[in-house]
Amino acid sequence: AIERTFSMIKPDATRRNITGAIVKMLEEAGLKVVASKRVWMSRREAEGFYAVHKERPFFNELVEFMSSGPTVVQVLEGENAIAKNREVMGATNPKDAAEGTIRKLHALSIGENSVHGSDAAETAKVEIAYWFSETEIVG
Ligand code: CMP
Repeated sequence: AIERTFSMIKPDATRRNITGAIVKMLEEAGLKVVASKRVWMSRREAEGFYAVHKERPFFNELVEFMSSGPTVVQVLEGENAIAKNREVMGATNPKDAAEGTIRKLHALSIGENSVHGSDAAETAKVEIAYWFSETEIVG
């Protein structure tokens, strides 16, 4: 089915000016960018976005990093978009990421791993709504 998923290009990637290279890989996988904006999130916004991880030992580091520079938040649309995006991203830890994936090619570490993507339909819905209103999404 045609799905929408949430994607984020993280500060380690915007800092290295590889936003376009990453979007190209998403597009080549058949995903279409139907909403996009550059945001420098506040600590509070990062805490809210990653609230499910608040008990994790790396939470503070994660919030600190995600608010350390600009990110690009996007909505991607396509056949099986949630799983497809995760496939193109590769494993969370670049050491485990398959050849040809975004994280294998670009991620620096498990924290500075260049991209985020929703892991399921329900989280995609919540994450899209966190950053976008319906009128900002143009399919
Ligand atoms: P993401 O898909 O954005 O969701 C949560 C993030 O937490 C994850 O990608 C990683 O970048 C980050 N993360 C996971 N494990 C660790 C860790 N051990 N140390 C730092 N960051 C981590």
